[in-house]
Amino acid sequence: MNTYEIIKKKRDGKALTKEEMNFLINGYTKHNIKDYQLAAFLMAVYYRGMSFDETTNLTIAMMDSGKVFDLSAIPGIKVDKHSTGGVGDKVSLILAPLVACYGVVVPMVSGRGLGHTGGTLDKLESIPGFRTNLTYQEFVTNLKSIGLAMMGQTEELAPADRKIYALRDVTATVDSIPLIAASIMSKKLAEGIDGLVLDVKTGSGAFMPKLSLAKKLAKIMIEIGKKMNKKVTAFITDMSQPLGRTVGNALEVIEAIEALKGKGEKDLMEVVLTLGEAMLLMGKKANTKNKARKLLQQSIDQRNALEKFRQLVRLQGGDERVIDDYSLLATAKYQIGVKSSKAGYVAKIDTQKIGMLAVELGAGRKKLEDRIDPAAGFIVNKKIGDLVRVGDILALVLANDIDLARDIALKFSGCYSFQKNRVFKPKLITSHFKP
Ligand code: URA
Repeated sequence: MNTYEIIKKKRDGKALTKEEMNFLINGYTKHNIKDYQLAAFLMAVYYRGMSFDETTNLTIAMMDSGKVFDLSAIPGIKVDKHSTGGVGDKVSLILAPLVACYGVVVPMVSGRGLGHTGGTLDKLESIPGFRTNLTYQEFVTNLKSIGLAMMGQTEELAPADRKIYALRDVTATVDSIPLIAASIMSKKLAEGIDGLVLDVKTGSGAFMPKLSLAKKLAKIMIEIGKKMNKKVTAFITDMSQPLGRTVGNALEVIEAIEALKGKGEKDLMEVVLTLGEAMLLMGKKANTKNKARKLLQQSIDQRNALEKFRQLVRLQGGDERVIDDYSLLATAKYQIGVKSSKAGYVAKIDTQKIGMLAVELGAGRKKLEDRIDPAAGFIVNKKIGDLVRVGDILALVLANDIDLARDIALKFSGCYSFQKNRVFKPKLITSHFKP
């Protein structure tokens, strides 16, 4: 078998065998296959697609590129959540401690910012000292101790995904259904979970903006889960505008902590609570959605979820004082208001562009080796359906470089479209797919 032939086969639209997929993924993980060859393969997949069997084989090869965690020694049902990626999507930071409060074990392995979307790891690392590079042993110890651990892929867990994810980010090959499905499912299946709740985003800020494609992605991931004997359920949720009010790592951590203090934005909390219900049901901690929602609300009201988050931060080496004192997080030197030059109801927001502007500002990476500026980002004031007058502030740009901030502020207003007539807010939860 040789790499050139495999790339050529995919380029010509032919289906790869299980052996070919294993050869490619093993070779890449072990550094025998070069970045440029895998990049060519990824682009071939982007244009040619993959059958369900190929996608499953790719998922399994990526899962088997490292250790498959065995969490059977930890009591309790292990349930995780994963989002296909969005802008301002800080759901995991709120949801994981919220659900763990009730004894659902949450072994969460997350990713970094990808393309225009933010990543849970980058957000968590904006907390001074917070370590996401846990070893397997630390992961297990933390799960035993507080029922929750949040880490990134290591050399141990789905290392193929970690490498491929980073390569896709810089080769414009992120928004491919088989590549997203294999990426998400490989690391989730390697975590040793019993169940998984998927948040598949749709709308202008999603990798799959079209609802029909988001649904297709959800169904494929559920099918892969079924094949691997895991309970998987998927929600299609709106990403036609940033979720909540903030975009950017430290800003999103603050918003998540505020949410855990009972001051979460309505749209953000609706997604958190909907996914949380499904996780409590899967974890057998409630038998109806209503009961689950009551429990979740209770743990916010009584600050139990906030305490669980504090335990998480402490256990993973972070400075837990940030929870009470946001000034301990990175803060931007400059804040610039984006003034609207137009009036009307906000009809559309180009959320992908907002995500790319956040990357330009330093909240994400353009190249693999780029460093994140944790303070950079936006506070969004106006969302779809809001009435805007000329001169109103659409958003605040937070940055450490004043010229950059001014430039981004100019571009930011171009992400908004207005209309004269009233606009309804987009439906937040569009569909729910069960196996
Ligand atoms: N999230 C992932 O983990 N992988 C993708 O490819 C996209 C979103």
